[in-house]
Formats: sequence, structure tokens, C-alpha cells
Amino acid sequence: MKFLASLALLASTVAAGPIAYPRADSNSTSTFHLKTSGASNKDHNNLYVYAYHTGAGFNDAVLTSDVGTASPAFLNGTHTQFDLGTPFPWGFKMGVQNNYAAWESVQINTGYGDQDFSISGTDFEWSEANGFGGWLVCDWYHNAPQLFYISSYYQPDIPSSCSKVDLTAEYIS
Ligand SMILES: *[C@@H]1O[C@H](CO)[C@@H](O)[C@H](O)[C@H]1NC(C)=O
Ligand SMILES: *[C@@H]1O[C@H](CO)[C@@H](O)[C@H](O)[C@H]1NC(C)=O
Repeated sequence: MKFLASLALLASTVAAGPIAYPRADSNSTSTFHLKTSGASNKDHNNLYVYAYHTGAGFNDAVLTSDVGTASPAFLNGTHTQFDLGTPFPWGFKMGVQNNYAAWESVQINTGYGDQDFSISGTDFEWSEANGFGGWLVCDWYHNAPQLFYISSYYQPDIPSSCSKVDLTAEYIS
């Protein structure tokens, strides 16, 4: 019985195709950490996103090699929410592209944050339709590597303290 159930699950997973958009009936069941890989600077690989408090209701997405510090995330529809141990929600908030900048901030603020996140395989991305051109890590003003995203509308000149990275979902449940 159990075997048949897993077969059925497998079949439906395969039928769903490579992009695993969450189904409405599976909200917030899978929790994951966001982990960097693929950076040319090896110090920017194997780092985890965590919420670095910057003010009431605001956090910057900062990176740490300590998995114990990582902030657990889950998809709710296409929102990426973080469980920071409060009764109210926290969501990934992408900096608005209204300043002609080649990359923008990524924050973890109260609320549900932005829509249009997806996990393809384990690859965590925002939608290209929103001007997402990839993830960037820079050694930045919290004295730690920090997460940004590249705007697809500009050709970035990546500073030597920054690297393009991939973000993968490392499932913890
Ligand atoms: C899942 O989330 C969607 C939209 O956020 C909501 O409409 C739906 O009712 C939720 N399903 C469950 C089982 O919580
Ligand atoms: C998911 O998002 C909906 C609104 O879109 C919200 O009502 C629901 O509480 C959220 N679920 C969690 C677990 O935060």
C-alpha cells in the first residue's frame, strides 16, 4: 500500500514537469534553507541566507556558513516566506527597479513579500518577467556577504567583492 502510494506520488511528480510550482494543497509543507553555489569566489559558496535585523519589521538577506543561523523558508503559493518564530509572516521582498541600478537589494520583511518565486529542481529563482537576472553576493556593510539580485535590464560590471551565485533550496523537511 505504502509502495503504491509512493509510486502514485512519483507518477504525479513526473507528470507535473520539471518546474515544481507548489500546489494549493501543499502550502508550507516543505521547509528549506537557501544555499549559494557556483560562485567564482569560493568564499561565496556554501553560504546560507538568514534574516539580519535592520529595524522593526525589516531584515537584510545576509549570508552565513553556519547552517544553525540560516533562516528556514517555505513557498506559500509563489511567495517565499520565512519562519522567524513569530506569529506573523515574513516574506522575501525584492528591491524595486526604479533607480537605474544594475542590481538591487533583497530583504526579508513582515508580510508575504513578492510573488513569482519558483523552485526548478533545487534551483531557486524569481521570475524573469520581473526583471530578474540572477543572484549576486557581495561582501557588504554588515561585515558579511549579503544577497542581491541582478536586474536583467542592465549589463552589470561586477565589483571584485561580488560574485554571481546560484541559490538552491536545501530541504530540511
Ligand atoms: C494555499 O495557499 C493559497 C494561496 O495562498 C490559498 O488560496 C489556499 O487556500 C491554501 N491552501 C491551504 C490548504 O492552506
Ligand atoms: C499564505 O498566504 C496567504 C495569503 O496569500 C495567507 O492567508 C496564509 O496565512 C499564508 N500561509 C502562511 C503559512 O503564512
